[in-house]
Amino acid sequence: MNSSFASRLGIEHPLIQAPMSGSTPPALVAAVSDAGGLGSLGAGYLEPQGILEQAAQVCALGDRPYAINLFVLPDEFEADMAAVAEARAQLDALMVREGLDVRTHLPARWAPRFSEQFAALCEARPAAASFAFGVISPAQLRELRQRDIYVIGTATTVAEARAWAEAGADAVCVQGAEAGGHRGTFLHAAEDAMIGLFALLPLTVRALAGSIPVIAAGGIMDGRGMLAAEILGAAASQLGTAFLTCPESSAAEAWKQDLPRVEEHQVTTIRGFSGRAARGLRNRFVEAMPDAVQGLPYPVLNALTAPLRRAAAAAGRGDLLSEWCGQAAGLVRPQPAAELVARLMHEYRLARRALAHSQTG
Ligand SMILES: Cc1cc2nc3c(=O)[nH]c(=O)nc-3n(C[C@H](O)[C@H](O)[C@H](O)COP(=O)(O)O)c2cc1C
Repeated sequence: MNSSFASRLGIEHPLIQAPMSGSTPPALVAAVSDAGGLGSLGAGYLEPQGILEQAAQVCALGDRPYAINLFVLPDEFEADMAAVAEARAQLDALMVREGLDVRTHLPARWAPRFSEQFAALCEARPAAASFAFGVISPAQLRELRQRDIYVIGTATTVAEARAWAEAGADAVCVQGAEAGGHRGTFLHAAEDAMIGLFALLPLTVRALAGSIPVIAAGGIMDGRGMLAAEILGAAASQLGTAFLTCPESSAAEAWKQDLPRVEEHQVTTIRGFSGRAARGLRNRFVEAMPDAVQGLPYPVLNALTAPLRRAAAAAGRGDLLSEWCGQAAGLVRPQPAAELVARLMHEYRLARRALAHSQTG
């Protein structure tokens, strides 16, 4: 793959462990970075103090480059409190029916303030910062530049990739429709931005015409997938679901156990956990999702369901938590992160050699 991307960041392999808020603790990030990839701390749900603490833990575990990822959102949110009350009543009733001893409550704030998270990211000064759900401002870009932080934007369409390139990002990560977790979409309706990686990647590479590197995300689970992305023009691959089953990941045990058994037709787009389109397993909660939650926006619904998901995880109820995963989840290989990085790179080299051989043979 494009060695200039890796060398610019000071990493050995053009392989990024995707930021996955709630599932990518410092131990996973440090293990991937130590193994030569770029570990990413998914910090979208963390308050500024949490970002600083987790960044310090990554640094204490190793001195390799790593990334911090945030969701670009307004600082304040208005909520329709009548709709919130109705959703809470229905969610609480669902928990009673499912026998889970937990109820919704109103949080002090719907989400951490982005401007404060951003300030913490600047203070932590990781090698790279990646962003989803929007584009940062010119002033924010300048702040990152001043600290020599490499900026990666997330795009789910060519227009979004262009927006990041015009904003001055150093690289753009295209998130194919296969990808697990929240859609990064910010210029379109989520259902219009479900572009498969095999279409989105070469379209974006052509549109950006080499101005900035393009990173591929969505459904990449092994070294063959990484090579396929490279052939389509990717400078690096970003894998999320593949790292969820690592022992270092903080994904709930029930979720880790479900992933190897996932069949692709069970993986769907879900709004009912957070108010934003996200890809995950169609489980009991998704099937039973109350009507009243459907209209609530992100991050309001996300904040309401957070305690329910935490309780489901603690009770081992995978059927009631948000089991985010990409369409290729059934290809996960549970193993320590450093082993997975080594295995991915070994497979990538083998696939490359096999392709070269088939072309000369
Ligand atoms: C559990 C989970 C949580 C995620 N959280 C984030 C996040 O916090 N920020 C982000 O930019 N992307 C997030 N993503 C999306 C990933 O960055 C990436 O696009 C996706 O994992 C790639 O598809 P794959 O899971 O098929 O490898 C998440 C994905 C998963 C599976």
